Amino acid sequence: MYRSHTCGELRAENIGQTVTLAGWVQKVRNLGAMTFIDLRDRYGITQIVTQDESIKIGREWVLQVEGEVIERSAKNPKMTTGDIELSAKKLTVLHEAEVPPFTIEEQSDGGDDLRMKYRYLDLRRPPLQRNIILRHKMAQAVRRFLDGEGFLEIETPYLVNSTPEGARDFVVPSRMNPHQFYALPQSPQTLKQLLMVAGYDRYFQIVRCFRDEDLRADRQPEFTQIDCEMAFVEQEDVLEVFERWAKYMFSETLGIHLTEPVRRIPWSEAMEKYGSDKPDLRFGMEFSDLTDLAQGHGFSVFDDAEYVVGFAAPGCASYTRKQIDGLIDFVKRQQIGAKGLVWIRLDSDPAQADTPGGAAVKSSVDKFYSPDQVRAMAERCGAREGDLVLILCGPRMKTLTQLSALRLEMAEQLGLRDPHKFVPLWVVDFPLFEWDDETKRYYAVHHPFTSPKPEDVPLLDSDPGRVRANAYDFVCNGTEIGGGSIRIHDSALQAKIFSLLGFNDEQIASRFGFLINAFKYGAPPHGGIAFGFDRLCSLFGGSESIRDYIAFPKNNAGRDVMLDAPGSLDPEQLKELEIKLG
Ligand code: AMO
Repeated sequence: MYRSHTCGELRAENIGQTVTLAGWVQKVRNLGAMTFIDLRDRYGITQIVTQDESIKIGREWVLQVEGEVIERSAKNPKMTTGDIELSAKKLTVLHEAEVPPFTIEEQSDGGDDLRMKYRYLDLRRPPLQRNIILRHKMAQAVRRFLDGEGFLEIETPYLVNSTPEGARDFVVPSRMNPHQFYALPQSPQTLKQLLMVAGYDRYFQIVRCFRDEDLRADRQPEFTQIDCEMAFVEQEDVLEVFERWAKYMFSETLGIHLTEPVRRIPWSEAMEKYGSDKPDLRFGMEFSDLTDLAQGHGFSVFDDAEYVVGFAAPGCASYTRKQIDGLIDFVKRQQIGAKGLVWIRLDSDPAQADTPGGAAVKSSVDKFYSPDQVRAMAERCGAREGDLVLILCGPRMKTLTQLSALRLEMAEQLGLRDPHKFVPLWVVDFPLFEWDDETKRYYAVHHPFTSPKPEDVPLLDSDPGRVRANAYDFVCNGTEIGGGSIRIHDSALQAKIFSLLGFNDEQIASRFGFLINAFKYGAPPHGGIAFGFDRLCSLFGGSESIRDYIAFPKNNAGRDVMLDAPGSLDPEQLKELEIKLG
């Protein structure tokens, strides 16, 4: 027996017992005749005390210690084991360790790259252990809930053909089928639809998906979905089940009981009010269309723009010139790309008021507008005394997106993005297609199996860009956590959508023939959703980066720096696969 207890277990009740612990040396302190060792495992830390002067150990050595639990003279209330210590009788070194390249404590002194290279050491640190344990608990909660609702967990293959989720595929050469390649699934989308045809009317899977796309804090090339599909359902049924599921997850994992119905916002409203299809609703700062008020007064920047839009930042009238310049620089950054920013200040100092009892208005465009005209714009934005109104103009969608970035920046500056506050919502009624000016064709906003709203089907012929989809996203705190749709289960409608998306008959047959054929044998009405499990974990854990919740993540260049992957292949392997490198 290597251990009788873990390093997080012993309490005052154990005093007098002889126990054996095993773990890693976190710290050694030598105080003359006595040596104190902090012994760590994933359950906690226990202080060991020994009077053996010959002892020679270092950080991260693996020890087994047998001894008696004794009361500590100097108790440590910060440690769960802080009332006791273990007086060592027998100390065995199970493994010596090299000096670790960074400190393995709550806060590490190691940089990102170093910690990624030695991920197995970083994973010993309590914050990462907490994250990995949280992820495990959440996975169990997912299974408990869905099992209780009659969902079956069914695995689908990883070696498949290209799946249409819009990113690039990772491909795998086939030795047995020279010159042919599998593609790793971007999601099990078509496979789960086939399971519906097969009659497994409630399916789920906690499944790895692979997408070769540019990486960000909330994107990894391989990530995990909680993938779900249901047959004989309409949108309302899917939203009902997964709203209950989301509330269950909040209450099981965080002890947060969300009692209100989750708000639903049509996509068009989300864009108009927040400039985003994943609005952060922990705070207001809704947008107002100022185009009619702003135009026709000789300010050509506004006059020439398609759209003028602004919002009021509460309490920011006191912003200094320097702070406002900072905001102007922010919107002009390359990633945002606005040409400039117009501001209106509603000063709360009554001495400066230009009308009795009113706030003084001051703006960056005072030359072009009367105080009343400026005030009207501020009022449209719901601004009150002490607020700062921020206005952008330009092409409508682009300007809304730019203002959305500024809204989030203001929320950041005002400390309104509290990671312990959660405001989930459903974004519904997405457009079915988006037009791409460069390639001059429509793309599916969600994927090509998403059904149009029945009332919008006539628009497929006359104005496809205006067709709304039976598609929905689950959004929380500005992150898209999940997305799904009701699928097309009618072969003729599916064929029409494929052709609107620019696929010819041959392409349809070769890429989606298996699905269209399957539908001919009796497809039930069906729909589903997939949640990004890594994103859900990082949302619940309060971190920005999903990497912190993945045991072995990739870096921003898509590399596993610990394994040094991707790597090159041996000439022998290449030959066997009949692959010649250019
Ligand atoms: P979608 O493409 O919206 O839908 O993906 C569903 C959810 O998966 C998460 N996600 C990611 N997480 C981490 N890294 C990534 N690279 C990444 N890409 C996506 C997001 C997203 O909301 N088959 C459909 C679902 C369906 O229609 O049922 C699908 O995959 O949280």
